[in-house]
Amino acid sequence: MNNNLISSEEHSNAVLPHNLGNFENIFHPDNYDHYRNAINTTTDLVQEFLYRNKKPFSGIEAKEMKEKVRQIDLDQKLSNYDELLAEVDDIYVKHATAFHLPQYVAHLNCPVVIPALAGEILVSAINSSQDTYDQSAGGTFMERKLIDWTAKQIGYDVNSDGVFTAGGSQSNLMGLVMMRDCFSQKRYNHNIKMDGLSPEASRFRIFVSDKSHFSNLKNASIMGLGEKSIIKVPTDDRFRMDISLLKKYIKREEQLGNIPIGIVATAGTTDFGNVDPLEDIADVAEQYNIWMHVDAAYGCALLLSEKYRDLLNGIERADSVTIDYHKSFFQPISSSAFIVKNKKELLILKHHADYLNPKEMDEEEIPAQINKSITQSTRRFDALKLWFTLRMMGKEQLAEYTDTVIDLTKDTASMISEDPDFELLSDSDLSVLVFRYIRSDIEDTNALNQFIKMKLFYSGEILVASTKVNGNFYLKFTLLNPITTTEDIHQILTTIKRHGKDFNTEK
Ligand SMILES: Cc1ncc(COP(=O)(O)O)c(C=O)c1O
Repeated sequence: MNNNLISSEEHSNAVLPHNLGNFENIFHPDNYDHYRNAINTTTDLVQEFLYRNKKPFSGIEAKEMKEKVRQIDLDQKLSNYDELLAEVDDIYVKHATAFHLPQYVAHLNCPVVIPALAGEILVSAINSSQDTYDQSAGGTFMERKLIDWTAKQIGYDVNSDGVFTAGGSQSNLMGLVMMRDCFSQKRYNHNIKMDGLSPEASRFRIFVSDKSHFSNLKNASIMGLGEKSIIKVPTDDRFRMDISLLKKYIKREEQLGNIPIGIVATAGTTDFGNVDPLEDIADVAEQYNIWMHVDAAYGCALLLSEKYRDLLNGIERADSVTIDYHKSFFQPISSSAFIVKNKKELLILKHHADYLNPKEMDEEEIPAQINKSITQSTRRFDALKLWFTLRMMGKEQLAEYTDTVIDLTKDTASMISEDPDFELLSDSDLSVLVFRYIRSDIEDTNALNQFIKMKLFYSGEILVASTKVNGNFYLKFTLLNPITTTEDIHQILTTIKRHGKDFNTEK
């Protein structure tokens, strides 16, 4: 430990002892021993989770889980941490989904890195709020430095800026709000923030691929544009936005009297992990002089990879970008960012509150991250986890993990496509594979694969995801764990086949 830090013994000598009586639960120097014991005991349960939970899920059914939780009387307090942890173990930890196990290949949940978990301890204990300098002095500048660092990876220059957010959906919302408000300001000199939607806004149209994330639809509806404002452009044979159709759809909307205001490109779709053609989309956005937002919630992993970085070529031409460190930088939830190319445009979101960031406050002298955040005032110092990660591991190790996962996905794609029992729908730029198990004697392939998925889920031995493509049911692997080996994948595929073979007999 750093010699400048004082021991708890010295500390209790240094601080006048208070008689805290009933206040022993308040985080305070006199209660440090209580804090440390509580944390240590809770860490024992983490150990239990790691060593005991050998399957990614216990397989418990929702009705049993509901009943367990129902029985607890929250008005009866427990006497000690042992009782508490036994209770929480029973209703939560024993059944918690274990993202770190190679048999978890379902959703976009990465295993997390240890330095980030260490950072999380400080984040929650010190509990800084990132809205203003007087609530987080160093934190304000550390977050800014990480935003600048991320912007540099994108290829933005010093004019860029951004803010940490709670997740990709929220970052995408910021992208759409900026797209809408900047367009309205420039084209009609109409300030939506102050004056609300103009009559033209009902004809605003935003172009996304039909494989883009559903948050675009939700965000458009929250923004008063309605889901109708989102135009889904069909995708090519690798499920990436079809550029000739994008151009056609923009023209068609114009002919209908509608007003194109921007394009959302997806760098790493949720279902296929493929990256839309960013350079081509940037050309179209430039041609129409409209906003380009890149949803790189998942594909941001490629920013650090030397081997696969070129898949993101053109991202630097976008006006704004969504980054989810909690999907692709091995960070605990939540950790995400919204990055914008031109920091002046972010000012469109600024709002002054007399008690936080009054108008007369000089931003250079006393900075306030709240100026850039639209949906959160009090905001966690999530950036600290990424700081711990970069400083302890370096970006090269993160890149190595990403490359390992992408290489594993390529091997897995070969295993699936070479096996006559499976049908693979597409390869992946990142690490998702959509496929199904087939049997020549079974016509209803959808029912067959639904059966397999449920069998795996309730046995808890393997968790896979699923999706629908053209009305058909498919199994889906999302591979985010660099520890997973081809041998693990081989075993997973063998287990899938085993359940598939049981279909007739057990149905
Ligand atoms: C491409 C893409 N964008 C956005 C999101 C939403 O991110 P979050 O879950 O962090 O809100 C997801 C989530 O899976 C995603 O896959």
